[in-house]
Amino acid sequence: MSKLNALMGWVDDRLPVTQTYEKHMSKYYAPKNFNFWYFFGVISMLMLVNQILSGIWLTMNFTPSSEAAFASVEYIMRDVEWGWLIRYMHSTGATFFFVAVYLHMMRALLYGSYQKPRELIWIFGMLIYLLLMAEAFMGYVLPWGQMSYWGAQVIISLFGVIPFGIGDALVEWVRGDFLISGATLNRFFALHVIALPLVIVALVVMHLLALHEVGSNNPDGVDIKKHKDEQGKPLDGVPFHPYYTVHDMVGIVVFLMVFCSVMFFMPEGGGFMLEYANFEPANGLKTPEHIAPVWYFGAFYAILRAIPDKLMGVVAMGGAIAILFVLPWLDKSPVRSWRYKGWISKIFIVVFAIAFVLLTWLGTQPATDLNTLLARVSSVIYFGFFLLMPIYTKIEKTKPVPERVTGGH
Ligand code: HEM
Repeated sequence: MSKLNALMGWVDDRLPVTQTYEKHMSKYYAPKNFNFWYFFGVISMLMLVNQILSGIWLTMNFTPSSEAAFASVEYIMRDVEWGWLIRYMHSTGATFFFVAVYLHMMRALLYGSYQKPRELIWIFGMLIYLLLMAEAFMGYVLPWGQMSYWGAQVIISLFGVIPFGIGDALVEWVRGDFLISGATLNRFFALHVIALPLVIVALVVMHLLALHEVGSNNPDGVDIKKHKDEQGKPLDGVPFHPYYTVHDMVGIVVFLMVFCSVMFFMPEGGGFMLEYANFEPANGLKTPEHIAPVWYFGAFYAILRAIPDKLMGVVAMGGAIAILFVLPWLDKSPVRSWRYKGWISKIFIVVFAIAFVLLTWLGTQPATDLNTLLARVSSVIYFGFFLLMPIYTKIEKTKPVPERVTGGH
């Protein structure tokens, strides 16, 4: 043991291993009142690792060319040993990654985790979210099925709305050809397997460094650093390790049970996760009857379609994402958690969440008259929630915030 200690000391003199472990794990004090919503950061991390590992093994047998991509996925599914499992881990993993990230973002919304001094954590989170969408979009193009091809066609053509010929030039530049082709597939493969994952991992590191600099928020939105014991440890905090490492294991196990049930028993997710049109090879001469995105893009696609003018639709869709970036500056409330905000905030948060789920569903459905009407109403609620926030968070009456956290064991 003393030899091991001596070795550790030798390493520590040269690389701050123990110091880093203490700073981020055993001496990182996290509020003791974390609840259900606080599982999803670590679960997002788990899903990121799952995507990277299953992705590496998929890459070993995938062929990134327009002639062979579709057949190579079939080969993985039928002939590669455990190939079906690796592919389903990756495709189901994408869905569960987004489930985790959406719940993680909802938590921030409920408890005001984006507010001062955590604005940068939120901004890094939004950058991750943006890149994650790009990553998922490009991944979906790779199997070169009908929906891969036509989905790419619809989304890339959106750049074309930029006026003065800039849009058309941009579309051609992104595609690398005059139409979606093998060149597009090749570059998407390069971006999907290395460029974006690398940046996403780097952003997650920044996200956590920013979090540990200021400390975690909690369901009460109170500052646990205000009340410390004689040794300077927050009275309402517990060391992350072992308390939250053990606690998080429970969430991870339950999450993996749900994940595995879907992966083993309904990997296509009823056509919401793997669309049936994508079991047919890409055909540039045959448009599918109903082009719809995978569920996690549904909300933004519904906002795009809700507006008849293409340019304005693209502006609205971009605006719906852009507005999230400035959220920390829209919320003027003196309190963080919705537990202590006024009734306008409470109602708005609930209605906003319902509108977002509805938009998500509408984006995957055909644009009938009724669906378009619902998408328009939901889009107005979506933007209203953010644009009116500086007003209602300022005028509403808040409840007194307790000095110390409530709950926790
Ligand atoms: C790959 C994706 C992501 C990973 C791996 C990740 C990881 C984490 C982890 C481990 C935590 C600390 C534990 C927790 O509070 O749950 C955290 C906190 C946080 N994350 Fe993320 N995150 C991701 C995406 C996002 C996104 C998209 C946003 C929002 C746009 C976001 C916003 C936040 C905020 C505001 C906190 C602080 C929460 C608090 O202290 O109450 N994260 N993240």
